[in-house]
Amino acid sequence: MQRILCLLVLVAVVNLQAVDVFEQQRRLGRSLNLGNALEAPSEGEWGWKIADEDLSRIKQAGFDSVRIPIRWSAHANPSPPYQIDPVFAERVNHVVRTALAKGLAVVMNVHHYDELDANPGAHRERLAGIWRQIAEKYQAYPDALHFEIYNEPHWKLNASEWNSTWVLALAEIRKTNPHRAVHIGGVQWNQSSTLKDLQLPEADRHIIGHFHCYAPFQFTHQGAEWVSSPWVGTKWVATPAEQAEILKVFSLATEWSKQTQRPVFLGEYGSYGKYADAESRVRWTAFMATTARKNGIPAAYWEYCAGFGLWNPLEKQWREPLLNAVLSR
Ligand code: BGC
Repeated sequence: MQRILCLLVLVAVVNLQAVDVFEQQRRLGRSLNLGNALEAPSEGEWGWKIADEDLSRIKQAGFDSVRIPIRWSAHANPSPPYQIDPVFAERVNHVVRTALAKGLAVVMNVHHYDELDANPGAHRERLAGIWRQIAEKYQAYPDALHFEIYNEPHWKLNASEWNSTWVLALAEIRKTNPHRAVHIGGVQWNQSSTLKDLQLPEADRHIIGHFHCYAPFQFTHQGAEWVSSPWVGTKWVATPAEQAEILKVFSLATEWSKQTQRPVFLGEYGSYGKYADAESRVRWTAFMATTARKNGIPAAYWEYCAGFGLWNPLEKQWREPLLNAVLSR
């Protein structure tokens, strides 16, 4: 009888304890960005809307999680309390619930809040207000759901402005989600070199360091219209110097992780497919995926079915060599 009682107490304690953040990070595994849908000014404007069958297909292909970029700022009132449009909120909720139900962990974020990058002082309260509503809505969701405070802070969001900004959003999140895994990346578009500038609260052990890697940019963004790139024809052949540039990005992330005792997640890596040659893309992608895996860092490819896409929506098939590179061990 005593043994049964002890067992019951143990089970209760385990249930009360939040899952370890390193375990949560591990569960993100192989991840894929659902880019160009919910972070467009309105979903569909950039060519696609997320369908339930996309989530089934992604799961079946072997992914463990998805990252969902969301432009909440285009669907929230400009004045306090910054009410989020309920129709949009329900649309997001449908995608999140469907992904979770299919066994995919989910990282949901605030993406493309351009006014925040341009004028942090005027917008940080609104970001916090948006997170207050998201956090309240999702507080009872399983721990397979992660929050990421803001994608790629840059421009006027320098290190000090950014530290004064995420702290407000995190405070709102923690009121209702004390143990939720929260991703925070550094400035200059989430470079790993800026993780060290984050002044994170020591006592909060549920934070994941978030970084992105598109190095070398001249290769991954060749011909990309939004960066007026002149580098069409750039190859990536895996020379020692080319490899070293990428390894440096990872070593900065792993050093920060060791020093701070916090896990890290590679939230974006990928190459624009319009001009880059297929062999270079596969080589670069496989190198990125295996380097991430060797370092114990789960990674999300950018992205599913648009300009960097793994899935060809016209031919309705995976770009197999690229998919295999992403999923390679
Ligand atoms: C941006 C996308 C862009 C991608 C690659 C993402 O963080 O939100 O608009 O295509 O990075 O540059």
